Amino acid sequence: MERRIIKGLLLVLVVTTSCYYDVEETLYPPTTCITDNMSYQTNIVPILERNCYSCHSVADGPNNGNVVVEGYTELLKYVDSGQLSASINHQSGYSAMPQDAPKLGNCDIAKIDHWILDGSPNN
Ligand code: HEC
Repeated sequence: MERRIIKGLLLVLVVTTSCYYDVEETLYPPTTCITDNMSYQTNIVPILERNCYSCHSVADGPNNGNVVVEGYTELLKYVDSGQLSASINHQSGYSAMPQDAPKLGNCDIAKIDHWILDGSPNN
């Protein structure tokens, strides 16, 4: 009888800690991902430069759906419309970005989403 209770408790412990661990890992990937107080210049621009400007710079945007994400004012249009977050998160109904390339890393996506949640400051 007592053994059963202990087994039961162990099972609950394993199940709850493993669930907790999963969530933890999604929110904070193994390498520490800092998403507090994101800066447009320091944190966001480099991600866009690396992954998006090849198609969506001021010069190239007109050839790629007329989407320009270079420059704060241009980028803000896609923040406000929800298209920036939806496209990098591969939400249905939106074109998955970056096009013809793997999805951005979890940390890069988290940085952009947190910057948007913070009110997408021009900082
Ligand atoms: C290889 C070229 C290429 C790259 C790299 C690329 N895009 Fe795009 N993007 C396109 C093209 C072409 C379109 C317009 C056609 C379409 O929607 O599929 C587009 C459309 C979009 C749209 C509108 C999507 C919608 O469904 O409304 C957004 C927002 C966008 N891109 C953002 C980005 C961001 C952010 C990145 C970088 C993470 C990126 N793109 C990288 C080619 C690219």
